[in-house]
Amino acid sequence: MTPAGNKNVTSIDQGRPRRRRPDREFVAQAGRLLGDGEGRIPELLHELLSPDVTAARICRLLASDVALSARVLKVANSAWYGQHRNISSIDRAIVVLGLSVLRRLVLAASCLRIRRTRQAPGLPDSGAVIAHSLAVAIGAQLLAAEQGDTDPETAFVAGLLHDFGLLVEFSMEAEGLGADLTTPGQATIGGTPEAWLSRERQHFGWDHTDLGAALLESWQIPENVVYSTEWHHQPTHAPHSAKRLSALVALGDALAGNIGMGLTLFSEPEEPAPCVLEALGFDWEERCEWQQRMADELRPYASLGA
Ligand SMILES: [Fe+2]
Ligand SMILES: [Fe+2]
Repeated sequence: MTPAGNKNVTSIDQGRPRRRRPDREFVAQAGRLLGDGEGRIPELLHELLSPDVTAARICRLLASDVALSARVLKVANSAWYGQHRNISSIDRAIVVLGLSVLRRLVLAASCLRIRRTRQAPGLPDSGAVIAHSLAVAIGAQLLAAEQGDTDPETAFVAGLLHDFGLLVEFSMEAEGLGADLTTPGQATIGGTPEAWLSRERQHFGWDHTDLGAALLESWQIPENVVYSTEWHHQPTHAPHSAKRLSALVALGDALAGNIGMGLTLFSEPEEPAPCVLEALGFDWEERCEWQQRMADELRPYASLGA
């Protein structure tokens, strides 16, 4: 696939950096590089993120997907949720765990079974990107719950999808993009996220935040999640309606980036910008306590992708 950028620059408010997105045809081709064995990722995400999602719709969605249901039920029955093989159906799981928990499990399980149809040599594989994204999802959700002014479920989704552009990009035949930045056998990219972004822009004309946002938009994912994907590395430039959500994802990203445990994509993760910490009232000195909370919350998800 040849990288392509369109001539249309996305409409930008004054003061916000000019951004370029890949064209629609390219985005459609790029999306096809992600496979889940069923080709259902866009449909599943669209359905699960619908504001009208109901227990009945989730049951219908999973009724035709035995493998996905089995994975979700396995975790629902784990000791993490205080159940011991009592939940035998998705309807029952919704009653016992609640719609929010079940929806999060289905979303995570759907993403964890993504297998790229191709793999750029020397770059982290899809499992590493999704594991990182899940940690960011948990971090953003916990932070949102603590702050109380953003829906924690939306924060979870925004964290889970924030690096989808990287997932696609690492599948492309992007010769020379990262070969010199990686060490064989290591799952991290050498350098900082900022250095990677400027390399992407040099190579493609856009970066993974532009590609991810264009891909999610093409899948009709809610607008605030598209924006937080687009601005997760520059949250202060996000449109007003998505500024808070973008900052939560950026902070979740920084916490996950420093947590280790195979959840760190860059060898030199950055700390969040002081203005992000200030906007969220977060003391970076408390990061270890938050990272421990994230690690605890991540445990039930560990067997979802197995
Ligand atoms: Fe990113
Ligand atoms: Fe990230």
